[in-house]
Amino acid sequence: MRDVELGGVALKRGDLVVVPTPLGNFPQDGEDWLAVDFHRPRIAHATFGAGPHFCLGAMLARAEIRIFLEEWLSRIPHFAIAEGTVLKVQVGAAAIIRRLPLVWPIATQ
Ligand code: HEM
Repeated sequence: MRDVELGGVALKRGDLVVVPTPLGNFPQDGEDWLAVDFHRPRIAHATFGAGPHFCLGAMLARAEIRIFLEEWLSRIPHFAIAEGTVLKVQVGAAAIIRRLPLVWPIATQ
């Protein structure tokens, strides 16, 4: 609505602000939220947003991810991130890994 400085950042009237909702999934409580832990109790998160604009496709997205992982792991159970890869994460309304080169052994018969 008007020019303002917020946290050292100059915002101009009319600027578009994208709130990086994924950051809401990393509370600074001492937990390592980046660690993969399949036994972590179910926690509230903002991956699909919240409130009246909660993601309409959340159920479909969850099903797609589950089916993708089932199919992938049944075919390629052992894989790794290619050596030397520098992961670049882009954070906007959702967090995106731009490029994820994977390697796995070729099956020999
Ligand atoms: C992992 C996949 C997905 C993620 C992380 C995701 C994330 C989000 C987030 C954070 C929002 C809220 C945006 C806001 O607050 O303004 C949103 C809204 C929405 N999403 Fe998704 N989404 C995913 C997949 C999908 C799919 C598969 C569909 C449809 C087939 C979908 C349809 C929508 C729609 C229509 C809205 C707008 C809801 C509204 O404004 O009332 N999303 N999504």
